[in-house]
Amino acid sequence: MLDIVVLISGTGSNLRALLAADSNFKVVAVIADRPASGLEYAAQYGVESSIIEPKNYADRSAWAAALGTKIKSYGVSSSQGLIVSAGFMRILPPEFVAAFSPRIINTHPSLLPLYPGANAVAQTLAADARVSGVTVHQIDAGVDTGRQLAQAQVPVVTGDTVDTLHARIKAAEQPLLVQTVSDIAAGRLQLL
Ligand code: GRF
Repeated sequence: MLDIVVLISGTGSNLRALLAADSNFKVVAVIADRPASGLEYAAQYGVESSIIEPKNYADRSAWAAALGTKIKSYGVSSSQGLIVSAGFMRILPPEFVAAFSPRIINTHPSLLPLYPGANAVAQTLAADARVSGVTVHQIDAGVDTGRQLAQAQVPVVTGDTVDTLHARIKAAEQPLLVQTVSDIAAGRLQLL
């Protein structure tokens, strides 16, 4: 069984999919950077959660150190367990990434390398793209530049808004993320 710590900032639909999966991994903790509504799912599933907010720390590096200490308290490190960033709207500093790499992954609502960073869905619509999608990737020191683990395509439909397209992307994203974590847990997918 692979122990995972999930990082969230928002509604937690991906977190819910991970919690609901009857699979070869287990969510041992959820950590948010703000009072995210998705923390409700942790409570529903009886999983420990905490909020570690940057504003309570002197600087980004002190915040990231506190986050890292909390994660390590669940037995997750660069050699065991896994950190899943699922809608976590913060860039993790290089020293944090170095401490947990390669056991740290992210899900992003575009077909990377297209549309990295914030507002990927709005960027997709602004570019008039006909195809969108989702990418699950390892986190490296860049923004959404880490090694790709899995992708799924999602059509862009005439009249799409950010909300309608993002909802369609999330419907594909949740099973892709669950499958990818399961593949890592089973050793079908290697983290490098
Ligand atoms: C997901 O689409 C994720 O890829 C993006 O933000 C969204 C978070 O959704 N970074 P949720 O909080 O899991 O519902």
